[in-house]
Amino acid sequence: DMGGHDTYMHKEISEQADAVDRVLRGRIDDRFSTVHLGGLNLDAREARGVRRIKILGCGTSYHAGQIGAQLIEELARIPADAEPASEFRYRNPVVDPDTLYVAVSQSGETYDVLAAVQELKRKGARVLGVVNVVGSAIAREADGGTYVHAGPEVCVVSTKCFTNTVVAFALLALHLGRIRDLSVADGKRIIDGLRRLPEQISEILGREDEIKRLAAEYADAKSMMFIGRVRGYPVAREASLKLKEVSYIHAEAYPASELKHGPLALIEPAMPTVAIVPDDDLLEKNRAAMEEIKARSGRILAVAHQVQEKADHTIVVPKNENELDPILMGIPLQLFAYHTALAMGRDIDKPRNLAKSVTVE
Ligand code: F6R
Repeated sequence: DMGGHDTYMHKEISEQADAVDRVLRGRIDDRFSTVHLGGLNLDAREARGVRRIKILGCGTSYHAGQIGAQLIEELARIPADAEPASEFRYRNPVVDPDTLYVAVSQSGETYDVLAAVQELKRKGARVLGVVNVVGSAIAREADGGTYVHAGPEVCVVSTKCFTNTVVAFALLALHLGRIRDLSVADGKRIIDGLRRLPEQISEILGREDEIKRLAAEYADAKSMMFIGRVRGYPVAREASLKLKEVSYIHAEAYPASELKHGPLALIEPAMPTVAIVPDDDLLEKNRAAMEEIKARSGRILAVAHQVQEKADHTIVVPKNENELDPILMGIPLQLFAYHTALAMGRDIDKPRNLAKSVTVE
């Protein structure tokens, strides 16, 4: 049942305020400015012994894991990174007993992720799952973990599950941080930020008409460039994937800092750029990148916390705590991909060549 929406993608994008509310519910502990994640199966002493975190997933879940790795580094100061599960399992990885492995999956059935988990367990590693579908293969195989509580996601293209997965990682990062060196004040700051998310998501979704008009402005593009730095980069990658999947417009994502090392050669009016420009300590660097693009007559659509003069258009999103900004900045670009695809008459819920869960190698 699409509940009045024309597609599941639209329904699922629209559900995100409620979905985020669900992943937060019952987990926040104001007394200790932390969160409780019931199924982690990792006590405080074990959590203190973790030296490194390796996050494994595919596609959108991998991108959510990249943001998750940044959140863990920022809040818990544990070295963390994300890698596509398929790459990991085929490179005979060094499995280290002090590393905590985290498998991320909406369906919980993605074969490459499952196989990576099985290989890790065979080598004696501890693996947590960050999974949406309760009781799925990856959830069962993992030593513990947390459910993402996005609810059923029907559209092949993942939207609300991406957002909820990132929020779940924020909870995990906060939990680990408060066991280690994150202060009470910072814990409280992040909790307050998390609580603001549902309302801020509703505010972004309320701008759908504006985003639809912008999608029409850029619909003539043959190809689009997505750029961001650090917190903005995984957002750019995910937005680029969303656009490709549903509209079949070619898109690339680059760290803004890498533009001058090659991709700047592509910039011309027919290749517009979407720039993720959070109001953080990299704002000036992002402005400089936009200036370089303008100097090559590139068009720019910015997603930012304030109107960007260097950009042709800005989608202004509400500001949260710096660490949590990536959760919100991708949401307008889900709508952007959706409206671009809709205007092109694409089969939005079932893009060609794709399946909801990839249970083959
Ligand atoms: C993107 C998309 C895919 C999946 C990927 C992993 O919109 O749907 O990239 O994210 O196939 O799927 P899960 O998360 O089920 O493991």
